[in-house]
Amino acid sequence: MKKTLLSVFGISILAISVQITLTSSSNGRAFAANSGNTGAPGEVTTCRSCHGAGFGTTVSIAIKDAQGNPITSYVPGSIYDAEFTVNANGASGYGFQMVSLNSSNAPVNGFSTPTTNTRLVTLGNGRQYAEHAGRSSTNTFSTQWTAPSSGTGTVTFYGGGAAVNNNGGTGGDGGNTTILSLTENTSVGIAEPTLRDELLVYPNPTRNVIKLENTAESVKNSVVEVYNMKGQLFISENITLLQNNAELLNVTGLNNGFYILRVTEGNKTLEQKIMIEN
Ligand code: HEC
Repeated sequence: MKKTLLSVFGISILAISVQITLTSSSNGRAFAANSGNTGAPGEVTTCRSCHGAGFGTTVSIAIKDAQGNPITSYVPGSIYDAEFTVNANGASGYGFQMVSLNSSNAPVNGFSTPTTNTRLVTLGNGRQYAEHAGRSSTNTFSTQWTAPSSGTGTVTFYGGGAAVNNNGGTGGDGGNTTILSLTENTSVGIAEPTLRDELLVYPNPTRNVIKLENTAESVKNSVVEVYNMKGQLFISENITLLQNNAELLNVTGLNNGFYILRVTEGNKTLEQKIMIEN
């Protein structure tokens, strides 16, 4: 009986301490307190409200492309690195939180693959937060960010960060917020692969035949078309191009002048102006 009482007591002590650890702010405000504190519309309390303005704390968000360069405009569907930095003098721990919204303040989200000091939490209002996973000894946090589909328009990242002194409370700490807006890049489509580097077309000008040669690979289903400068089609042929083996295209029936030769292989095309002097 004594033993049972003791272990029940022990378990409840354990449960209480687990509860305290899980709800502690040091575990991230969305994870531990169901709270967004980034300064985004609808979030009245920020890190600074509780942690004050110590350490001269400033925070920043950078969305970087594959080359590590910060972008100001996103390409729909592309994957970027989202980096959050807390700058402070003399702090010993760091935390943050960020969220991405569209211009109507609806969640854009898109965070994935966080680094070990970073956690992703989605709250009941649909907003996905990237935030610290426990007090961090380093001042940068990162996660991937997949840009939304085209037509989403401007995306704004709202972020709050805190630099802390590890005293287990908020006294002596410093917090701040930041905002980063990215416009949607509507001018870039998917880059069209071209045959230009691997296909030789010669001679030019030519008489009677044009030689086509693929230097990179053999391709079974190339379509070769010849148009005049008004866009009228004169020749359309399927040909197999063996690597480094010139195929001949007969152009004897064409009047002298300029034409456009178009070769299509799958989703790649080459267009070249040719001159025929029969
Ligand atoms: C409503 C008040 C409140 C807000 C808002 C708040 N915190 Fe805290 N935070 C606390 C309290 C209280 C503690 C200490 C107890 C604990 O860990 O829960 C704390 C502790 C921390 C710690 C650990 C500090 C230490 O010394 O151990 C970090 C890191 C932290 N918060 C980061 C943040 C960040 C980042 C934000 C904004 C996204 C934030 N907090 C917003 C109240 C707040």
